[in-house]
Amino acid sequence: MKRALITGITGQDGAYLAQFLLDKGYQVYGTYRRLSTPNFWRLQYLDVFDKVNLIPADLLDTSSIVEAVRVAQPDEIYHLAAQSFVFASFEQPVGAGEITGLGVTRILEVIREINPSIRFYQASTSELYGRGSTIPQTESTSFQPSSPYAAAKLYGYWVTRIYREGYGIFACNGILFNHESPLRGLEFVTRKISNAVAKITLGMDKELRLGNLEAKRDWGYAPEYVESMWLILQQDKPDDYVIATGEAHSVREFAERAFTVAGLDWEKYVKVDERFLRPLDINFLQGDYSKAREKLGWQPKVKFDKLAEIMVREDLNRWGRWLKGEKFPWDAPNYPSEDRIISRMLKLDR
Ligand code: NAP
Ligand code: GDD
Repeated sequence: MKRALITGITGQDGAYLAQFLLDKGYQVYGTYRRLSTPNFWRLQYLDVFDKVNLIPADLLDTSSIVEAVRVAQPDEIYHLAAQSFVFASFEQPVGAGEITGLGVTRILEVIREINPSIRFYQASTSELYGRGSTIPQTESTSFQPSSPYAAAKLYGYWVTRIYREGYGIFACNGILFNHESPLRGLEFVTRKISNAVAKITLGMDKELRLGNLEAKRDWGYAPEYVESMWLILQQDKPDDYVIATGEAHSVREFAERAFTVAGLDWEKYVKVDERFLRPLDINFLQGDYSKAREKLGWQPKVKFDKLAEIMVREDLNRWGRWLKGEKFPWDAPNYPSEDRIISRMLKLDR
């Protein structure tokens, strides 16, 4: 039985990947960081919480990573843990470098020291391409990161290649474009929209405040994207792959589609609020996944319209059940209103 270690198993991708690998017959280990209140809702939601082995570890603490690798003795490590919210990386730029950047080297060093035959997946990102990039983006498009998050991920991308080429470690980058699901964190724009659509439909909210409506992203469906991570580590040779749908749509289009699913006119409810603008933003990401299709046999099935529908229907279903008094693992009822968050990024006078 193969053994996998997933860093960031409590996140969107970590939970779906755990479910996917369990279905493949893997023994699954996952690292989580100690919080004052446990955050296992996604694993519970997918009904895999009791089937995975959990190891406390923090990317800032190398000794905890050593311990995780010693305990799990993995054949494969999927390194998904990161401070993944781009907006927040402008708030905590040093943390972005420490966690999202240097965290990659900490893990690769542990692999090099303990067992260099472990296969390593690095969660790289379309954010690497940044602003003004050529479209569509491929594995050979140049990078021009536009946020502290992307700069940290660029470091992680290169260090992964350096350990592959310098030490012969089977280390790969999955350059994944945005992928969403009902397990997406509430601060990301698609889930912020689907959650608001559900609350407005049920009379629990009146409006939705968003930032840059013109930004275009290549949005795919997260459960399909975790399969690509596994495929990348099953190849004969380590390599880097773009994973995308090949379609780009704007935030405005996503809002329009999401409100339409609930039978509402988006223009009546969406307000632009400059607090949600970023010091730098990427306006156009659209991936070319030809290499993944040819070499991995991977291709996306769920595209934009269906994705928005899945997310809105699930948030409607959850709030409907919640209003009837049903309790189930879920994040939204605990999420604070953004009006009550004091952040340098959410201040009007920044
Ligand atoms: P996510 O839901 O935000 O999950 C991030 C995970 O990292 C969580 O488990 C989080 O733990 C953990 N983490 C954060 N800081 C940590 C630390 N200091 N030590 C240990 N663990 C820490 O992100 P995701 O959407 O699943 O994305 C997974 C990975 O893919 C990330 O590296 C992200 O940057 C990358 N990526 C995502 C996308 C996308 O569209 N989703 C696209 C390209 C690349 P808590 O639960 O305790 O917060
Ligand atoms: N979050 C957010 N909230 N974004 C908004 C809002 C808002 O109210 N209004 C407009 N946007 C715009 C952002 O400015 C950005 O251009 C776009 O919506 C997408 O924002 P996010 O959903 O926060 O995702 P992201 O593209 O910045 O980053 C995600 O995808 C990357 C891959 O390209 C994250 O998952 C990253 O971890 C990942 O690497």
